[in-house]
Amino acid sequence: MALPQRVRLVDMAPRDGLQNEPGEVVATAVKVELIERLARAGLTHIEAASFVSPRWVPQMGDAREVMLGIHRESNVTYSALTPNLKGLENALEANVSEVAVFAAASEAFSQKNINCSIDESLARFEPVMARARQANVRVRGYVSCVLGCPYEGDIAPAQVARVAGALYEMGCFEVSLGDTIGVGTPLKARQMIDEVAKVVPVEHLAAHFHDTYGMAIANLFAVLEQGVAVIDASTGGLGGCPYAKGASGNVATEDVLYLLRGLGIETGVNLESIIETGEWITGQLGRAPASKVARALEAH
Ligand code: HMG
Ligand code: MG
Repeated sequence: MALPQRVRLVDMAPRDGLQNEPGEVVATAVKVELIERLARAGLTHIEAASFVSPRWVPQMGDAREVMLGIHRESNVTYSALTPNLKGLENALEANVSEVAVFAAASEAFSQKNINCSIDESLARFEPVMARARQANVRVRGYVSCVLGCPYEGDIAPAQVARVAGALYEMGCFEVSLGDTIGVGTPLKARQMIDEVAKVVPVEHLAAHFHDTYGMAIANLFAVLEQGVAVIDASTGGLGGCPYAKGASGNVATEDVLYLLRGLGIETGVNLESIIETGEWITGQLGRAPASKVARALEAH
């Protein structure tokens, strides 16, 4: 299949990027500024917050203040995670533009992350879908551990397809496939997409790859060739999942932009502005960007 001409990037830095930040809770004003900078750089989809239990994820405890604090651009979708009806109601009150439910392809990860089995989580999402439909808010679905699980090891592509298909069937407009611990390699990624695309059309799939083993860019190239045209990435390469020990951040937005520019694929996002934003946010957190592209271009 030919490569897509245009890719939609979803920046995860404010949510996936910051949810696992150790130490002090990142100031609300910093989160708000990060989101506004991403929008100015050309991002039209930003995962801005997470309406989960603040006891489980303290860094996202100010989700409401963040959502209400941002100066909104009319062309930008500001999404948030909503694991249950309580999260959705809070998100709606905070004027979220899109929400996301999250399931896993691994039973053990589902228990650790959201305290229930895969089937229980799917049942819990039904009322979330119904309420979101009533509020006219789109719901994205995530599947974690699509290329491996920190507790169960290998995950069968058929198991990923079962969960992705269930989310699509219940009305998720898009299913984002998470290599939560970044263990995948291109052949595995391709086999997984082949299986999932049997139940969810490829134009409704997104790739959400973490870069723990440095394979995310190779994996993205593999799935771009299969027609995947939505990519989740995180400016500065920030992040990790609190319930996946050792997992590092999402693939850096900087690295993805450099790859796509080289392939002649449009995104509408300005690489130089993202590099600046990555420098700024990692500076706020007291470290350097994880992105090699950022480091190389900074050195010029
Ligand atoms: P639980 O303890 O089973 O929930 O947690 P519960 O329904 O029994 O409620 C317990 C308490 O939590 C109650 O409070 C509820 O009100 C409260 P109490 O009466 O004890 O004072 N509560 C909430 N508070 C605020 N917002 C809510 C909410 N729900 C309940 N929405 C729950 C179940 C799902 C809430 C919990 O396990 C949780 O919050 N988990 C979130 C875990 C998480 O955020 N993980 C990271 C995001 S997923 C990810 O990063 C992967 C992804 O990036 C893709 C990839 O990389 O693979 C998406
Ligand atoms: Mg993630």
